[in-house]
Amino acid sequence: MTESRALLPLAAASRILSRAINPSGRPSERRLRQAVEGKVVLVTGASRGIGEASARKLAAAGACVLLVARSRERLDDLKAQYSELGGTVHTYPVDLSEPESIDALAARLPEHHEHVDVIVNNAGKSIRRSIERSYRRFHDFERTIGVNYLGPVKLMLALLPSMRARGDGHIVNVSTIGVRVPPAPRWAAYQASKSAFDVFLRSAAAEAAADGVTISSIYLGLVHSEMSAPTPIFRYVPGLTPDQAGDLVCKAIVDRPSVISPWWAGAVELGAAVSRRPWELAAGLYSRLSEDTESAAAASEDRPAEERVTEGS
Ligand SMILES: NC(=O)c1ccc[n+]([C@@H]2O[C@H](COP(=O)([O-])OP(=O)(O)OC[C@H]3O[C@@H](n4cnc5c(N)ncnc54)[C@H](OP(=O)(O)O)[C@@H]3O)[C@@H](O)[C@H]2O)c1
Repeated sequence: MTESRALLPLAAASRILSRAINPSGRPSERRLRQAVEGKVVLVTGASRGIGEASARKLAAAGACVLLVARSRERLDDLKAQYSELGGTVHTYPVDLSEPESIDALAARLPEHHEHVDVIVNNAGKSIRRSIERSYRRFHDFERTIGVNYLGPVKLMLALLPSMRARGDGHIVNVSTIGVRVPPAPRWAAYQASKSAFDVFLRSAAAEAAADGVTISSIYLGLVHSEMSAPTPIFRYVPGLTPDQAGDLVCKAIVDRPSVISPWWAGAVELGAAVSRRPWELAAGLYSRLSEDTESAAAASEDRPAEERVTEGS
C-alpha cells in the first residue's frame, strides 16, 4: 500500500472532524449573484489563500472586484483569469503596512469607482514564535500590528465616510478564533494584532450602524493555506480549505450576519470568563511540551527582518 493510500482514512476522518468543529456554508449561485452583481467589492489579501478564493467567487458572480495585495504580477495574472469568468476586475498593488501606500489607494479609487459597496478585510500576517525567541525581534510586533491592525484601520478611515454618507455599506472582517478564545502560547504578536482590529471594528460598527453600514466578523479556525503551512503539526489538524473559507466570506456578504464562528466559541468564551485558571494550566503545559517550528527558530537568529516574510502561522 502506498503512503498516500494508507493516509486516506486519516484524511477522511480529518474532513469529518473539520465539518464538526468549523463553521460552514455557501450561498447558492443565484443568491450570491443577486447580492453582488454590479456591486464594487474590495478584497484585501486577494493574491492568494482565502482572499484569492473569495475574489474568484465574487468575480464569477458578476461583482466588480478590486484586488488589493503587494504582489503586482500575481494580481495581474488573477485579473486575466477572473475576467474570463465574466467579472470586472481592477488591481491595486498596495502594501498595507505602509501608510503612504494606503493614501495612494484611497486617492486612486474615486478615479474608477463612485463608491465601494463591500470591503473584505482579509490581508493578514501571521507569526508563531515563543516570547523567548522574540526578545530581539520587536519588528515582529511592528509587522503584525502594521498589516493586521494599523493598515486596515487606515483603510477604514478612508472608506467609511463615503459609506456612511451614502447610508449603505458592508465590511466583512476575516478574523481568527484566536481572538475569542483565551490567548495561546507563541501567538502573542498575531493574536494581539488581530484582537486590536476586532475591537476597533466592533466599536466603530456601533457608530456606523446608525448610518446603514453593517459589519460581519468571521472567526476562523485553521485554514490550510500558505499562512498555516510553515507549522508542520497543522497538516494533521482538521481545517478548512481556502475555498471553503471563501464560501464563508460570500455567505457573510449575502446574509450580512454580525458573526460567523464555530458553534463552540461562545461556550469557550463563557468558560474563560468564569475562570482563567484551567486554561492557563493547559496553555502552560502545552507551551512546555511543544516547540517553535524550525522556521520560527531559524528566523530568530540575528537575521534581518526582510530575509523572511512568512515564519509560521
Ligand atoms: N490560515 C489560517 O489558518 C487562518 C486562520 C484564521 C484566520 N486567518 C486569517 O485569514 C486571512 C487570510 O489568511 P490566508 O490563510 O489566506 O493567508 P495567506 O495565504 O498568507 O494570504 C495572505 C494575503 O495577505 C496579503 N498580504 C500580506 N501582507 C500584506 C501587506 N503588507 N499588504 C497587503 N497585503 C498583504 C498577501 O498578499 P501579498 O503577499 O501579495 O501582499 C496575501 O494575499 C488573514 O487575515 C488571517 O489572519 C487565517
